[in-house]
Amino acid sequence: MSAVVPKHVAIIMDGNGRWAQERGLPRIAGHEAGSKSIERCVQACLDTGVQYLTLYAFSSENWKRPALEVNALMLLLENFLNQKRDEMVREGIRLHHIGRIQELPSVCQRKLREVMDATAANTKLHFVLALSYSGRAEIVDAVKSLVRDTAAGTVSEADITPELIASRLNTAGMPDPDLLIRTSGEMRISNFLLWQLSYTEIHVTKKFWPDFQREDFLAALEDYAGRSRRFGGV
Ligand code: FPP
Repeated sequence: MSAVVPKHVAIIMDGNGRWAQERGLPRIAGHEAGSKSIERCVQACLDTGVQYLTLYAFSSENWKRPALEVNALMLLLENFLNQKRDEMVREGIRLHHIGRIQELPSVCQRKLREVMDATAANTKLHFVLALSYSGRAEIVDAVKSLVRDTAAGTVSEADITPELIASRLNTAGMPDPDLLIRTSGEMRISNFLLWQLSYTEIHVTKKFWPDFQREDFLAALEDYAGRSRRFGGV
């Protein structure tokens, strides 16, 4: 393993549906298999020292999917949180969410809050679930909050800096991702972390998310370690 470990890895977990389709299985079987890939990545982060892992688990656009699939995904999230709660507490994992969780079923909201509270003192790995998340909506919400404060006189035009805008995003206080992994070969950002990915290194693999193994995660870290990051400089 290389010495240069990214502090923050973000993942667009794509290809669950196609993975299931190839096997003649319902799409939700792909999402279930995808949950196992999440477990492998969390373990790999704990082993390698990655401090933040952000997963695009459910986008704002995903609400357009058939109700059967949406409901199954919500149940999967609830079960995942129930099953992983104690392990997260024990292993030093702190759960966070980004996105409009007020749009999730109340049972999921309650479960998320419970596990976030239970893990609030943990610091080894920040595990961030993007749920009902849209990068544009996040920026819209940040702009609205700044407009409100400007109208109230607590923020002036001169105060508006990249740092102030970042502090109004769901990811306030978190470092920007160093590495973005996308599975299933698609070359798109898909409305994920639009502000935060400005200087992030991108690693795309053709593998579908349920096929993503620990070795694939380690290969992405190796790829990252070989990159020269200039942040727009020389
Ligand atoms: C994209 O594959 C994946 C999703 C929309 C959902 C990701 C969810 C999980 C991996 C599991 C549930 C999450 C948790 C936190 C337990 P796709 O369905 O768009 O695949 P396709 O492009 O092949 O159709």
